[in-house]
Amino acid sequence: MTAASANAEMIRYWNEAAGPSWVAMQERLDAQLAALGTLVRERAGIAPGERVLDVGCGCGGTTLELARAVGADGRVVAVDISAPMLERARARAAAAGLGARIEWQCADAQTARFADAGFDCVYSRFGVMFFADPPAAFTNLGRALRPGGRLAFVCWQGRERNPWMMAPALAAMQHVAFPPPPPPDAPGPFAFADAGRVREILAAAGFVDVTHEAIDQPMPLGNGGLDEALELFLAVGPVGQALREAQAGPEQRERVVAAVREALARFETPRGIEAPASAWIVTARSRGAGG
Ligand SMILES: C[S@@+](CC[C@H](N)C(=O)[O-])C[C@H]1O[C@@H](n2cnc3c(N)ncnc32)[C@H](O)[C@@H]1O
Repeated sequence: MTAASANAEMIRYWNEAAGPSWVAMQERLDAQLAALGTLVRERAGIAPGERVLDVGCGCGGTTLELARAVGADGRVVAVDISAPMLERARARAAAAGLGARIEWQCADAQTARFADAGFDCVYSRFGVMFFADPPAAFTNLGRALRPGGRLAFVCWQGRERNPWMMAPALAAMQHVAFPPPPPPDAPGPFAFADAGRVREILAAAGFVDVTHEAIDQPMPLGNGGLDEALELFLAVGPVGQALREAQAGPEQRERVVAAVREALARFETPRGIEAPASAWIVTARSRGAGG
């Protein structure tokens, strides 16, 4: 992985800006995303003995689950561009006694050289929407799959269908500068909102039998209540990023905190803070030996 990589900006972002915050908030983020990660694993149908590639594995929560699912005879390769997140992942695997089943790669999944036909399944929980060149990235990932091998990932639907992220961001925007909205297809959390675009990318990369399953379920943002959810939003995602980039002073920060708190308060439920969220679970197969 070099600074000259096609994904240089993302490499900087996930190492210097977002990575350390994700490490600090790892337990809460895992709790937030766990149900969706489990659903993808079920849809992927991971079986004992299989070889699985976990793309954008982050702090390794999904990698540990995959390592348990493939068992002692299976193997998981986990790839990510973020050194601090991989360090946390490695430590968790060692603590769980699963280190021997997992190989970690600090690399750009768009260009990394994986074993040809070396995997039964390519899996990802929100780790595939950041590629500068998605057709090239999925061609590379397809090459790593055996003929007929499975691809299964979860990605976000559109901004308008994800108030859990957009409501706090829109509230913060009144008080701190945000970058201009990126084009809808730009690399980032919502890059794969358009199911038609994803089908085209996957077809161009040699995948067949592409399916999209809409998952609309509330996102748990902190069962410790408002303060817990607020802390998370001020650290990660677009609000955390805007605060870091603006180098907000105490007064400006206070205004942002009040606005985000008010936005999150609308999502209070007896179970904690839960906001509407919509994701796609995408599955596909690499073309079989017969084409
Ligand atoms: C939203 S986080 C999800 C992390 C993890 N999958 C989870 O669910 O907790 C996105 C992850 O994708 C990684 N990532 C982004 N672009 C990547 C690339 N080109 N190659 C490998 N990993 C990448 C980031 O470093 C980050 O860890």
